[in-house]
Amino acid sequence: MGKDVIVACDFESAGQTFAFLDKFTGRKPFVKIGMELYYAEGPGIVREMKRRGHKIFLDLKLHDIPNTVKQTMRVLSGLDVDITNLHAGGASTMMKAAIEGLTRPDGTRPLLIAVTQLTSTDQETMEKDLLIHEPMDKVVMHYAENAKRCGLDGVVCSPLEAGKVHEACGQSFLTVTPGVRFENKDTGDQKRVMTPAQAKLIGSDYIVVGRPITAADDPVAAYERCINEFVD
Ligand code: C5P
Repeated sequence: MGKDVIVACDFESAGQTFAFLDKFTGRKPFVKIGMELYYAEGPGIVREMKRRGHKIFLDLKLHDIPNTVKQTMRVLSGLDVDITNLHAGGASTMMKAAIEGLTRPDGTRPLLIAVTQLTSTDQETMEKDLLIHEPMDKVVMHYAENAKRCGLDGVVCSPLEAGKVHEACGQSFLTVTPGVRFENKDTGDQKRVMTPAQAKLIGSDYIVVGRPITAADDPVAAYERCINEFVD
C-alpha cells in the first residue's frame, strides 16, 4: 500500500458515521475505527464499512496476556481489515502471539502496527507513574525496534518521530502518524503537530486525520486538501 490519508471516524454511532461518509461521493477515504465506535456498534460497523468499499484501520490497541491477544487477533482476522494494532508495552511474547493469531490459514493477514508510548504520556508521567527513567526518544525507538523484531509492520508515532523510526527500522517499516493540522488552525489537544505537507517531507507513510476533516465546514474539501498535500 502506498501513502494515504486515514480519516479518524471518531463518532458515537453508525448513523453519525455514515451521515459523514455519505458526503464523500468521489474517492472513498481509508477510515480509522477506534474504540468508541467499535464498542458502540460492534463488528457490524466494520462489515458495513467494508461492504461500502472503504479500507479500514481498526484501532483497538490490544494489550493483554499473549494467549488472550492471540485469540482476539484470530477473531479480528475474520473481519478482514487492512491494518490493526496493539501496545508494544505488552512486550515481545505478546507481539509474537498477536502475529500468530492474526495470520489466517492461507498465510495472509492484516498489517499489524504497534503503539509505542501514547502521545498523552510525557517524560514526567513515564518517570513518575511508570518508573521508566530513560529519555522518551530512546523508549519509543526501543519499542519500535522490538515491534520490528517480532515481525510487526510498523508503529503509530508522532510525525516528528517518523524520520528517526525509518532510520532505526528501515524505510519499509510503516509510520502511521496522527497529530496533523493545517497551518494557522487550532491544534486542540494535540501538542506536537505537523501539516500534511510536512508529514510527507519527513516520510510518514500514513497520516491519521480526525477533527481537521470531521469538524471542517466542508469535510470533503478538507480531505482533498490532505490528499493533495500528502499523497499527490
Ligand atoms: O482529531 P485528531 O486529528 O486529533 O485525531 C487523531 C486521531 O488519532 C484520534 O482518533 C486519536 O485517538 C488518534 N491518536 C492520536 N495519537 C496517538 C494515537 C492515536 O491522536 N498517539
